[in-house]
Amino acid sequence: MTVSPSIASAAKSGRVLIIGATGFIGKFVAEASLDSGLPTYVLVRPGPSRPPKSDIIIKSFKDRGGIILHGVMSDRPLMEKLLREHEIDIIISAVGGATILDQITLIEAIAAVGTVKRFLPSEFGHDVDRADPVEPGLTMYLEKRKVRRAIEKTGVPYTYICCNSIASWPYYDNKHPSEVVPPLDQFQIYGDGTVKAYFVDGPDIGKFTMKTVDDIRAINKNVHFRPSSNLYDINGLASLWEKKIGRTLPRVTVTEHDLLSMAAENRIPESIVASFTHDIFIKGCQTNFPIEGPNDIDVGTLYPEESFRTLDECFNDFLVKVGGTLETDKIATKNTAAVGVEPMAITATCA
Ligand SMILES: NC(=O)c1ccc[n+]([C@@H]2O[C@H](COP(=O)([O-])OP(=O)(O)OC[C@H]3O[C@@H](n4cnc5c(N)ncnc54)[C@H](OP(=O)(O)O)[C@@H]3O)[C@@H](O)[C@H]2O)c1
Repeated sequence: MTVSPSIASAAKSGRVLIIGATGFIGKFVAEASLDSGLPTYVLVRPGPSRPPKSDIIIKSFKDRGGIILHGVMSDRPLMEKLLREHEIDIIISAVGGATILDQITLIEAIAAVGTVKRFLPSEFGHDVDRADPVEPGLTMYLEKRKVRRAIEKTGVPYTYICCNSIASWPYYDNKHPSEVVPPLDQFQIYGDGTVKAYFVDGPDIGKFTMKTVDDIRAINKNVHFRPSSNLYDINGLASLWEKKIGRTLPRVTVTEHDLLSMAAENRIPESIVASFTHDIFIKGCQTNFPIEGPNDIDVGTLYPEESFRTLDECFNDFLVKVGGTLETDKIATKNTAAVGVEPMAITATCA
């Protein structure tokens, strides 16, 4: 489907409020909002910041002209007051899995105020009306579907960002895999390793999200991120990383049964990530449907002139993190052993 760029723009100069800007996905969106030049407001929860590095993120938003508001989105009177006082046009929520349903109260505030021109709920993964993961991932999707139905009922224009996977090695038990380098000891290959998925760099998630917020072609649409340069199966991903590090690693199979067993353990968030990993790399939930419904649009069709950072380039960043150099595109085994890669804490849920 082609869409005329001539009808692309609406509500320029809108004031953007981002909820969840200190989070993993939210900070990419907040940075892109500041880059776009739109007046950017950030809602920060009161109390000690979680994690403490959030203070640094908030300071950098302020230094770049972001306006910090304090509060929680589940406080309806406060949200109504903030939306009115600051004349917010666009709201982007990037709250994590534990607070998805708090967005219902936010939607009530949006409806009461009546001036918001676009709402982007916390999606940033799969098309939750289509994808059908096993539990416990399903519960999160049921909640995201409830939020979709709530905003649709209000008549307020919305956009659902279906950006697929973040560019990284897709660890089955880590909700923020791009914060960890790809394996240096062995690869865990899901199933036969041939099911493909799309991998999108974090800053590109932010950049393309911000392009949609005042684009009338994205009103009431699922915007799908499917960059052809970043479509890989896990065997291909392993080969890409082997090329970077200049050596091969053993490959161990994680079967469908293994993933389902991990999901069934119901450890949150690891089991949620296992259920999504099963949906992506066994069932093919990112690629098993064409983008052709009346509410679907490919972000590449909207902005054909804009390119995505390739996964190859993203893996160069990981190479540098493990002590490699881009000149040789390789690292020595002894260097990888010398680099201390800290395991990251797992705290909530993903995609
Ligand atoms: N595509 C992917 O690969 C991928 C990966 C991860 C996540 N996701 C999706 O992206 C979305 C965001 O997840 P995330 O992992 O980025 O979340 P996260 O890191 O847990 O961050 C959540 C953010 O929301 C804020 N927040 C939570 N409840 C709030 C409330 N009631 N009022 C105001 N602020 C609140 C938190 O503030 P504090 O700083 O106060 O805690 C934090 O800034 C989710 O929909 C998730 O499914 C996608």
